[in-house]
Amino acid sequence: MAYYHRLGNIPPKRHTQFRQPDGSLYKEELVSSKGFSGIYSNLYHIHNPNNVQKIGKPTPYDWKIAKEHGLNQTHLKTAGVSTTGKDYLSARKMLMMNNDVMMGICSPEQRKMDYFFKNADGDELLYIHDGEGVMYSQFGKLEVRQGDYIVIPRTTIYRFEFKEEGPIRLLVIESKGPIETVKRYRNEVGQLLEHSPYCERDIRPPHEMYTESEKGEYLVQIKKQGMLHPYTYGHSPLDIVGWDGYLYPYALSIHDFEPITGRIHQPPPVHQTFQAWGFVICSFVPRLFDYHPLAIPAPYNHSNIDSDEILYYAEGEFMSRKGIDRGSFTLHMGGLPHGPHPGTVEKSIGAKATEELAVMLDTFKPMFVTTQGLEFVDPNYPMSWTE
Ligand SMILES: [Fe+2]
Repeated sequence: MAYYHRLGNIPPKRHTQFRQPDGSLYKEELVSSKGFSGIYSNLYHIHNPNNVQKIGKPTPYDWKIAKEHGLNQTHLKTAGVSTTGKDYLSARKMLMMNNDVMMGICSPEQRKMDYFFKNADGDELLYIHDGEGVMYSQFGKLEVRQGDYIVIPRTTIYRFEFKEEGPIRLLVIESKGPIETVKRYRNEVGQLLEHSPYCERDIRPPHEMYTESEKGEYLVQIKKQGMLHPYTYGHSPLDIVGWDGYLYPYALSIHDFEPITGRIHQPPPVHQTFQAWGFVICSFVPRLFDYHPLAIPAPYNHSNIDSDEILYYAEGEFMSRKGIDRGSFTLHMGGLPHGPHPGTVEKSIGAKATEELAVMLDTFKPMFVTTQGLEFVDPNYPMSWTE
């Protein structure tokens, strides 16, 4: 993360004696990225973070590319899906993937996780499409609500507790590389610049330390190399009394993304929200349309020769598309042009504003539908431009 944050109790100097009320030492843990060259945080544990009691048998937790899907403009219709599985991990269904990123949905029946999860394969970005609750992690409590992006650096140990009422629907993105704020939005020391569509005030790190000191059996499901490894520890992994640094999970609400508009149609980079290895994430939010007297608000046909574009439709009417619902994904592959549906361009002329809300993921390498994703394919979509 791009700024320093601290919570709870930490000693005045790192790597020095920091004692518990009973006189024993707190156990310091440096969580660092890129060896010792990237961002890092120092955490202070009550117990030894290596106090493993049991290591269970690993089970596969991965997805397969459906090569037979071929070159197709793709619509995955997931609107009717109310739950995708019993608990947080069994409910995570990845629908598209390549070597850099996976993307899918998660609507668990169980609202409170009775285990912890640690993704050691990649950073995660969750978009809370529906639901409200608390993410408990080693970094403290983070309240989450509809419209939040939650950036979770790899190896963060966490669990969610969602409120008892209302649907839960998460868009899940897992990235091989770190998920970061956009480099061109930052100055040379990392502060978000005046032209950035969001700034540090919009970024919400964990707001309150949450410490579980009890001993007992605590299960952490660790995802590594496409497998789930059940580790049982002799104490809660949330035994942290304080931490500081630049590496921590945080929330950024899509509703705090300030749109950039113009006299004529602005290209997707103005909507960019995050960067990662091999892809970018953009937010399409309610905004005024272009104000040139002859402006065409609908987007033009586009042949993106070396990227694939995925849109997740969150709210509102999508003026350039027909047959798209809340919760739909479209995948427009490089190699085919894509554009507005017939009739939508003329219809858009004179429109003043849009209430649409969507998350876009553009990949620099081809993106594939997974075998799981095939269940949701709308067979009519590839021919939906035909007049
Ligand atoms: Fe495009």
